[in-house]
Amino acid sequence: MAENQNSKDLYMIIKEKYQRKSVAGQLQSVFGKEIYHYFCLESTNKVAYLLAKKGAEEGTVVVADEQTQGEGRGDHYWYSPQGGLWFSLILRPRMISSETSRLSILGATGIAMSIDRLFSSLKVRIRWPNDVVIKDKKVAGVLIKVRTERSDVNFAIMGIGVNLNVREFPSPLSFTATSLIKETGDSTSKKRFLESTLEELENLYFSSQVNGHMLLEKARLFSSLLGRQVEVVTTEGKFQGLVQDLDEDGGLILRLESGLHKKILPEEGYIKERSPKI
Ligand code: BTN
Repeated sequence: MAENQNSKDLYMIIKEKYQRKSVAGQLQSVFGKEIYHYFCLESTNKVAYLLAKKGAEEGTVVVADEQTQGEGRGDHYWYSPQGGLWFSLILRPRMISSETSRLSILGATGIAMSIDRLFSSLKVRIRWPNDVVIKDKKVAGVLIKVRTERSDVNFAIMGIGVNLNVREFPSPLSFTATSLIKETGDSTSKKRFLESTLEELENLYFSSQVNGHMLLEKARLFSSLLGRQVEVVTTEGKFQGLVQDLDEDGGLILRLESGLHKKILPEEGYIKERSPKI
Protein backbone atom coordinates (compact mmCIF):
# COMPACT_ATOMS: atom_id res chain seq x y z
CA MET A 1 0.00 0.00 0.00
CA ALA A 2 2.72 2.45 1.05
CA GLU A 3 4.70 1.51 -2.07
CA ASN A 4 1.70 2.26 -4.34
CA GLN A 5 1.10 5.56 -2.67
CA ASN A 6 4.74 6.56 -3.06
CA SER A 7 4.87 5.54 -6.68
CA LYS A 8 1.73 7.55 -7.42
CA ASP A 9 3.29 10.64 -5.86
CA LEU A 10 6.52 10.11 -7.71
CA TYR A 11 4.68 9.68 -10.99
CA MET A 12 2.92 13.01 -10.46
CA ILE A 13 6.25 14.64 -9.60
CA ILE A 14 7.78 13.31 -12.81
CA LYS A 15 4.82 14.55 -14.81
CA GLU A 16 5.12 18.01 -13.37
CA LYS A 17 8.90 18.22 -13.19
CA TYR A 18 9.96 17.01 -16.60
CA GLN A 19 8.81 18.29 -19.90
CA ARG A 20 7.92 15.51 -22.27
CA LYS A 21 9.29 16.13 -25.72
CA SER A 22 7.02 13.98 -27.83
CA VAL A 23 4.11 11.73 -27.11
CA ALA A 24 4.41 8.64 -29.18
CA GLY A 25 6.20 7.07 -32.03
CA GLN A 26 5.80 3.80 -33.81
CA LEU A 27 9.16 2.34 -34.56
CA GLN A 28 8.73 -1.39 -34.28
CA SER A 29 5.74 -3.63 -33.91
CA VAL A 30 6.40 -4.08 -30.20
CA PHE A 31 9.62 -2.34 -29.11
CA GLY A 32 9.11 1.40 -29.45
CA LYS A 33 5.37 1.25 -30.07
CA GLU A 34 5.07 3.81 -27.30
CA ILE A 35 7.94 6.23 -26.73
CA TYR A 36 8.20 8.74 -23.91
CA HIS A 37 10.81 11.28 -24.91
CA TYR A 38 12.08 13.84 -22.40
CA PHE A 39 14.54 16.70 -22.66
CA CYS A 40 16.15 15.81 -19.33
CA LEU A 41 15.58 13.18 -16.64
CA GLU A 42 17.47 12.05 -13.58
CA SER A 43 17.46 8.57 -15.07
CA THR A 44 15.34 6.94 -17.79
CA ASN A 45 15.50 3.71 -15.77
CA LYS A 46 13.68 5.32 -12.85
CA VAL A 47 10.86 6.64 -15.04
CA ALA A 48 10.56 3.37 -16.97
CA TYR A 49 10.38 1.47 -13.67
CA LEU A 50 7.48 3.64 -12.53
CA LEU A 51 5.67 3.33 -15.83
CA ALA A 52 6.11 -0.46 -15.73
CA LYS A 53 4.74 -0.56 -12.19
CA LYS A 54 1.70 1.32 -13.43
CA GLY A 55 1.18 -1.31 -16.12
CA ALA A 56 2.95 0.11 -19.20
CA GLU A 57 3.13 -2.44 -21.98
CA GLU A 58 6.13 -4.48 -23.02
CA GLY A 59 8.19 -2.53 -25.53
CA THR A 60 7.48 0.90 -24.05
CA VAL A 61 10.58 3.10 -24.32
CA VAL A 62 11.68 6.09 -22.23
CA VAL A 63 14.34 8.32 -23.82
CA ALA A 64 16.05 11.41 -22.44
CA ASP A 65 18.37 13.80 -24.25
CA GLU A 66 20.29 14.21 -21.02
CA GLN A 67 20.37 12.49 -17.60
CA THR A 68 21.45 14.16 -14.39
CA GLN A 69 21.73 10.94 -12.34
CA GLY A 70 22.44 8.30 -14.95
CA GLU A 71 22.84 4.90 -13.31
CA GLY A 72 25.62 2.52 -14.29
CA ARG A 73 26.39 -1.01 -13.14
CA GLY A 74 27.56 -1.52 -9.58
CA ASP A 75 26.03 1.79 -8.44
CA HIS A 76 28.40 3.74 -10.67
CA TYR A 77 27.38 7.10 -12.08
CA TRP A 78 26.79 7.02 -15.84
CA TYR A 79 27.96 10.14 -17.65
CA SER A 80 24.95 11.16 -19.79
CA PRO A 81 25.38 14.56 -21.46
CA GLN A 82 23.47 15.79 -24.51
CA GLY A 83 24.54 14.01 -27.64
CA GLY A 84 24.27 10.49 -26.25
CA LEU A 85 21.43 8.06 -26.65
CA TRP A 86 20.02 7.25 -23.20
CA PHE A 87 16.97 5.05 -23.07
CA SER A 88 15.16 2.34 -21.15
CA LEU A 89 13.01 -0.43 -22.55
CA ILE A 90 10.23 -2.13 -20.57
CA LEU A 91 10.21 -5.91 -20.91
CA ARG A 92 7.79 -8.46 -19.54
CA PRO A 93 9.70 -11.68 -20.20
CA ARG A 94 8.22 -15.02 -19.29
CA MET A 95 11.19 -16.00 -17.14
CA ILE A 96 12.02 -16.87 -13.60
CA SER A 97 14.34 -14.47 -11.83
CA SER A 98 17.39 -16.74 -12.11
CA GLU A 99 17.15 -16.54 -15.92
CA THR A 100 17.33 -12.75 -16.20
CA SER A 101 21.14 -12.69 -16.50
CA ARG A 102 20.76 -13.40 -20.18
CA LEU A 103 18.99 -10.05 -20.67
CA SER A 104 22.34 -8.28 -20.18
CA ILE A 105 23.88 -10.33 -22.97
CA LEU A 106 20.83 -9.73 -25.14
CA GLY A 107 21.09 -5.97 -24.65
CA ALA A 108 24.81 -5.83 -25.46
CA THR A 109 24.39 -8.12 -28.47
CA GLY A 110 21.54 -5.99 -29.87
CA ILE A 111 23.62 -2.81 -29.60
CA ALA A 112 26.67 -4.49 -31.14
CA MET A 113 24.55 -5.77 -34.05
CA SER A 114 23.10 -2.32 -34.58
CA ILE A 115 26.56 -0.67 -34.65
CA ASP A 116 27.83 -3.41 -36.95
CA ARG A 117 24.88 -2.91 -39.29
CA LEU A 118 25.24 0.89 -39.49
CA PHE A 119 29.05 1.11 -39.35
CA SER A 120 30.43 -2.07 -40.85
CA SER A 121 33.98 -0.71 -40.88
CA LEU A 122 34.07 -0.43 -37.07
CA LYS A 123 35.24 -3.50 -35.19
CA VAL A 124 32.63 -3.57 -32.43
CA ARG A 125 33.00 -6.14 -29.65
CA ILE A 126 31.24 -7.17 -26.44
CA ARG A 127 33.36 -7.20 -23.31
CA TRP A 128 31.49 -9.53 -21.01
CA PRO A 129 28.95 -9.14 -19.67
CA ASN A 130 27.50 -6.05 -21.22
CA ASP A 131 30.11 -3.52 -22.28
CA VAL A 132 30.06 -2.71 -25.95
CA VAL A 133 33.57 -1.68 -26.94
CA ILE A 134 35.52 -0.41 -29.91
CA LYS A 135 39.30 -0.91 -29.68
CA ASP A 136 38.79 -1.88 -26.03
CA LYS A 137 37.13 1.44 -25.19
CA LYS A 138 33.56 1.46 -24.00
CA VAL A 139 31.02 2.89 -26.43
CA ALA A 140 27.82 1.58 -24.79
CA GLY A 141 26.55 -0.21 -21.69
CA VAL A 142 23.45 -2.01 -20.43
CA LEU A 143 21.87 -2.01 -17.01
CA ILE A 144 19.06 -4.44 -16.21
CA LYS A 145 16.64 -3.88 -13.32
CA VAL A 146 14.18 -6.62 -12.52
CA ARG A 147 11.02 -6.65 -10.43
CA THR A 148 10.01 -10.09 -9.28
CA GLU A 149 6.89 -11.54 -7.72
CA ARG A 150 7.85 -14.65 -5.81
CA SER A 151 10.30 -16.27 -8.27
CA ASP A 152 8.58 -14.93 -11.41
CA VAL A 153 9.68 -11.84 -13.24
CA ASN A 154 6.99 -9.20 -13.18
CA PHE A 155 8.94 -6.88 -15.46
CA ALA A 156 12.49 -5.95 -16.39
CA ILE A 157 13.91 -2.60 -17.38
CA MET A 158 16.71 -2.70 -19.93
CA GLY A 159 18.60 0.58 -19.60
CA ILE A 160 20.88 1.33 -22.54
CA GLY A 161 23.44 4.07 -22.83
CA VAL A 162 25.20 4.68 -26.16
CA ASN A 163 27.90 7.34 -26.47
CA LEU A 164 26.63 8.42 -29.83
CA ASN A 165 27.55 12.05 -30.47
CA VAL A 166 29.52 12.65 -27.27
CA ARG A 167 32.65 14.52 -28.35
CA GLU A 168 34.61 14.69 -25.09
CA PHE A 169 34.75 12.71 -21.84
CA PRO A 170 36.02 14.02 -18.53
CA SER A 171 39.05 12.30 -17.03
CA PRO A 172 39.39 9.43 -16.09
CA LEU A 173 36.61 8.36 -18.48
CA SER A 174 38.58 9.79 -21.38
CA PHE A 175 41.01 6.85 -21.05
CA THR A 176 38.38 4.12 -21.12
CA ALA A 177 35.41 5.48 -23.09
CA THR A 178 34.81 6.33 -26.71
CA SER A 179 31.87 7.41 -28.84
CA LEU A 180 30.63 6.79 -32.33
CA ILE A 181 31.41 10.37 -33.33
CA LYS A 182 35.00 9.95 -32.11
CA GLU A 183 35.40 6.70 -34.00
CA THR A 184 33.73 7.73 -37.26
CA GLY A 185 34.19 11.51 -37.33
CA ASP A 186 30.49 11.93 -38.15
CA SER A 187 27.42 12.51 -36.05
CA THR A 188 24.69 9.89 -36.13
CA SER A 189 20.94 10.48 -36.09
CA LYS A 190 19.58 9.44 -32.71
CA LYS A 191 16.28 8.41 -34.22
CA ARG A 192 17.97 6.23 -36.82
CA PHE A 193 20.21 4.57 -34.24
CA LEU A 194 17.34 4.01 -31.80
CA GLU A 195 15.22 2.54 -34.56
CA SER A 196 17.95 0.17 -35.67
CA THR A 197 18.79 -0.91 -32.12
CA LEU A 198 15.15 -1.55 -31.20
CA GLU A 199 14.78 -3.63 -34.33
CA GLU A 200 17.81 -5.76 -33.46
CA LEU A 201 16.67 -6.11 -29.84
CA GLU A 202 13.13 -7.05 -30.82
CA ASN A 203 14.35 -9.72 -33.23
CA LEU A 204 16.79 -11.16 -30.71
CA TYR A 205 14.28 -11.07 -27.85
CA PHE A 206 11.51 -12.91 -29.64
CA SER A 207 13.66 -15.33 -31.60
CA SER A 208 15.66 -16.29 -28.51
CA GLN A 209 12.41 -17.32 -26.83
CA VAL A 210 12.05 -19.90 -29.60
CA ASN A 211 15.71 -20.81 -29.98
CA GLY A 212 17.82 -20.20 -26.88
CA HIS A 213 21.11 -21.04 -28.65
CA MET A 214 20.69 -18.33 -31.26
CA LEU A 215 21.41 -15.48 -28.83
CA LEU A 216 24.49 -17.22 -27.55
CA GLU A 217 25.84 -17.79 -31.03
CA LYS A 218 25.44 -14.10 -31.88
CA ALA A 219 27.01 -13.06 -28.58
CA ARG A 220 29.99 -15.35 -29.21
CA LEU A 221 30.54 -13.73 -32.60
CA PHE A 222 31.02 -10.34 -30.95
CA SER A 223 32.81 -11.49 -27.81
CA SER A 224 36.14 -9.77 -27.28
CA LEU A 225 37.18 -12.23 -24.60
CA LEU A 226 36.98 -15.77 -25.93
CA GLY A 227 40.43 -17.30 -25.69
CA ARG A 228 41.84 -14.34 -23.80
CA GLN A 229 43.52 -14.26 -20.42
CA VAL A 230 41.51 -11.99 -18.10
CA GLU A 231 41.07 -10.95 -14.51
CA VAL A 232 37.48 -10.95 -13.23
CA VAL A 233 36.57 -9.00 -10.12
CA THR A 234 33.74 -10.65 -8.18
CA THR A 235 32.16 -10.35 -4.77
CA GLU A 236 34.10 -13.51 -3.82
CA GLY A 237 37.43 -12.01 -4.91
CA LYS A 238 39.52 -11.77 -8.07
CA PHE A 239 39.92 -14.64 -10.51
CA GLN A 240 42.46 -14.90 -13.30
CA GLY A 241 42.07 -17.33 -16.12
CA LEU A 242 41.43 -18.09 -19.75
CA VAL A 243 37.97 -17.36 -21.11
CA GLN A 244 36.67 -20.62 -22.54
CA ASP A 245 33.06 -19.85 -23.32
CA LEU A 246 29.84 -18.02 -22.57
CA ASP A 247 26.93 -20.10 -21.41
CA GLU A 248 23.18 -19.83 -21.81
CA ASP A 249 22.65 -17.97 -18.55
CA GLY A 250 25.02 -15.28 -19.76
CA GLY A 251 27.76 -16.73 -17.53
CA LEU A 252 31.47 -16.54 -18.33
CA ILE A 253 33.30 -19.87 -18.20
CA LEU A 254 36.81 -19.29 -16.97
CA ARG A 255 39.61 -21.86 -16.93
CA LEU A 256 41.57 -21.02 -13.82
CA GLU A 257 45.34 -21.48 -13.51
CA SER A 258 44.62 -24.51 -11.30
CA GLY A 259 42.88 -26.12 -14.29
CA LEU A 260 39.49 -25.90 -12.62
CA HIS A 261 36.59 -24.21 -14.37
CA LYS A 262 34.66 -21.36 -12.82
CA LYS A 263 31.36 -19.94 -14.02
CA ILE A 264 30.68 -16.30 -13.19
CA LEU A 265 27.25 -14.77 -13.80
CA PRO A 266 26.90 -11.20 -15.16
CA GLU A 267 25.63 -9.82 -11.86
CA GLU A 268 28.53 -11.43 -9.98
CA GLY A 269 31.48 -9.73 -11.61
CA TYR A 270 33.17 -7.61 -14.19
CA ILE A 271 36.40 -7.70 -16.16
CA LYS A 272 39.20 -5.64 -14.69
CA GLU A 273 40.09 -3.05 -17.27
CA ARG A 274 43.70 -2.81 -18.31
CA SER A 275 45.33 0.33 -16.98
CA PRO A 276 45.54 3.08 -19.53
CA LYS A 277 48.80 3.55 -21.41
CA ILE A 278 49.78 7.11 -20.65
C1 BTN B 1 26.98 0.29 -17.44
O1 BTN B 1 27.44 0.65 -16.36
O2 BTN B 1 27.68 -0.19 -18.31
C2 BTN B 1 25.50 0.42 -17.71
C3 BTN B 1 25.15 1.81 -18.13
C4 BTN B 1 23.69 1.98 -18.46
C5 BTN B 1 23.36 3.43 -18.71
C6 BTN B 1 21.95 3.60 -19.20
S1 BTN B 1 21.66 5.22 -19.85
C7 BTN B 1 19.96 4.88 -19.93
C8 BTN B 1 19.59 4.10 -18.69
N1 BTN B 1 19.27 5.01 -17.61
C9 BTN B 1 20.18 4.96 -16.63
O3 BTN B 1 20.15 5.66 -15.61
N2 BTN B 1 21.11 4.05 -16.91
C10 BTN B 1 20.85 3.40 -18.18
